[in-house]
Amino acid sequence: MKGEREMEGPVALSDAHDAPADPVAPFAEDYERDIQRVLLTEEQIQGKLRELGAAITRDYAGRVPLLVGVLKGAFVLMADLARHVHIPVEVDFMAVASYGASTQTSGVVRILKDLDHDIEGRHVLLVEDIVDSGLTLNYLLKNLRGRRPASLEVCALLQKVGIQRVPLDLRYVGFEIPPEFVIGYGLDFAERFRNLPYIATLRPEAYREA
Ligand code: IMP
Repeated sequence: MKGEREMEGPVALSDAHDAPADPVAPFAEDYERDIQRVLLTEEQIQGKLRELGAAITRDYAGRVPLLVGVLKGAFVLMADLARHVHIPVEVDFMAVASYGASTQTSGVVRILKDLDHDIEGRHVLLVEDIVDSGLTLNYLLKNLRGRRPASLEVCALLQKVGIQRVPLDLRYVGFEIPPEFVIGYGLDFAERFRNLPYIATLRPEAYREA
């Protein structure tokens, strides 16, 4: 079982049904029928967050970074990542309009909730769930840079490979994944699946039924 847990790459959900101790054991019956394939297990995600947290702890030693989470998707990541950073941090959130029930980016970003903090002179680390086209992040970085932080870096849990439409400099990236639509660990389709502890793809029927 240990070997399987350490396995890199995609994990089929059906494997979990045969082996109840597997980290991708069924989570919620109503979700299970919509899930096609588990890309990243809870263990893989948590292991990576420990690494990212250690790197952030090291890189920001002696400073008090402001972790800025991009809602809604980053709410789970922010909670877990912040607990792996072993220096004082402050936390703030921005909310931006997401896809709604579609899986295509519009490229139009609307700020629904702005920061509570003034970030001038602060060391800001933007915490993003996923970088797809990169348009959201590009917009947010430009916007935040205009507020004159002392530094501005990005920690993204997931980066889809080969489809960014703008060049982005990402300081911390958890996993590079294929350019597929994924759900779980904060990421939604039509507002569902955010509470899954793992990251998965959906069966085509799940999109049609939404
Ligand atoms: P981008 O502007 O295309 O990089 O998309 C950014 C936002 O779109 C992310 O912060 C997510 O909220 C959402 N998004 C992009 N790809 C996915 C996905 O595969 N699943 C769920 N949400 C996604």
